[in-house]
Amino acid sequence: MFDHLNAMPEDPILGLMAAYRKDPREQKIDLGAGVYQNEQGQTPVMRAVQKAEDRLIEQQSTKAYQGIAGDPDYNQRVLNLLLGEEHKTLADGRAVSMQTPGGSGALRIGAEVIRRANPDARLWVGIPTWPNHIPLLGSSGFQIEQYPYYNQNNHRVDFDSMLGALEQVPQGDMVLLHGCCHNPTGSDLNHEQWQQVTELALQRGFIPFIDIAYQGLGDGLDEDAWGLRLMASRLPELVIASSCSKNFGLYRERTGSTSFICSDAKQPSIVLSQAMSIARQTYSMPPAHGALIVSMILDDKTLRAEWKDEVDEVRQRIQAMRKLLTDGISNNATSQDFSHISQQKGMFSFLGISKEQLTRLREDFGIYIVDSTRMNLAGINSGNIDYLCESILKVLSV
Ligand code: LMR
Repeated sequence: MFDHLNAMPEDPILGLMAAYRKDPREQKIDLGAGVYQNEQGQTPVMRAVQKAEDRLIEQQSTKAYQGIAGDPDYNQRVLNLLLGEEHKTLADGRAVSMQTPGGSGALRIGAEVIRRANPDARLWVGIPTWPNHIPLLGSSGFQIEQYPYYNQNNHRVDFDSMLGALEQVPQGDMVLLHGCCHNPTGSDLNHEQWQQVTELALQRGFIPFIDIAYQGLGDGLDEDAWGLRLMASRLPELVIASSCSKNFGLYRERTGSTSFICSDAKQPSIVLSQAMSIARQTYSMPPAHGALIVSMILDDKTLRAEWKDEVDEVRQRIQAMRKLLTDGISNNATSQDFSHISQQKGMFSFLGISKEQLTRLREDFGIYIVDSTRMNLAGINSGNIDYLCESILKVLSV
């Protein structure tokens, strides 16, 4: 039976991660997958996570099944984190959230529920986007349409083109948006732009599907949810996929959520039952461990304050690395402008060099950057910044 199968190409991000691990060079630098690294180049267990995990292991009395929707406390606390506890949608009973295996699982559950609700809905995806968005969401059966998002020349959101394309989106179609820390560009919508897209969604009747995987890594936990909260208060319906991989550092624990904002208080339980039936048909139940840790941290004042401080540290370190890199490569032979790197938000920015230059960085210098030239700025530290800048300058000068 398997004779007819051909080997699949490697994933553009995870394949790079594997290649980096195999590279024996000591000076190699990993700017590939979106995984946080500290000043020592390590991806540490966050302090608050470690404390919650210790407490959890001490207190746990069972490993029995948890249920299809996961932990109810986690679901409520994640919803509060996304929307803010005072959000009117919560008081109105119009929101519901379900624990999922990571942010990818959240996207998939969201997509499947939408497909059941409206099989004719198309999904509009901004270009560029996370390389796995189209394979992951497209394989749930969506017809994918594209809208322009980013101007590679001035390194800003190409908002006029984006709005022009969204003006053509018909009622009932879905529009994928990044809640914050746009992956791969690092360029987010500003408040005015969020407002304009929200008004357009109201006017046209399209429904946003917001992927928020980096809450807290852009401007702050509340600040990064500004657009999402605006949409939740203005629009009748919204689907949100969120992840605890980055802001809790729980990558391998696969901890995410799909949240639905519905137009009245009767719908959330129905929508949740649909999401649960899809989960049951695919993976049955989400893994419990990460969600129990998140739930404990969000509920405990001291742990929560400690976690928030760590998220602030992560964000500030990445911002500092953005500035170091920009300063280090600004005076270059080609007079190429890299100032966008210091201005953008979250883990990623495009370096914006040619394919040949990128290949040379990898082959000659052991510097691993995704093919689109997307860099994970969290892979930079004071020990590798000089080598990184020298290598980029060498590649640019040829
Ligand atoms: C990334 O964009 O690098 C991360 O979200 C990891 C992944 O799964 O692609």
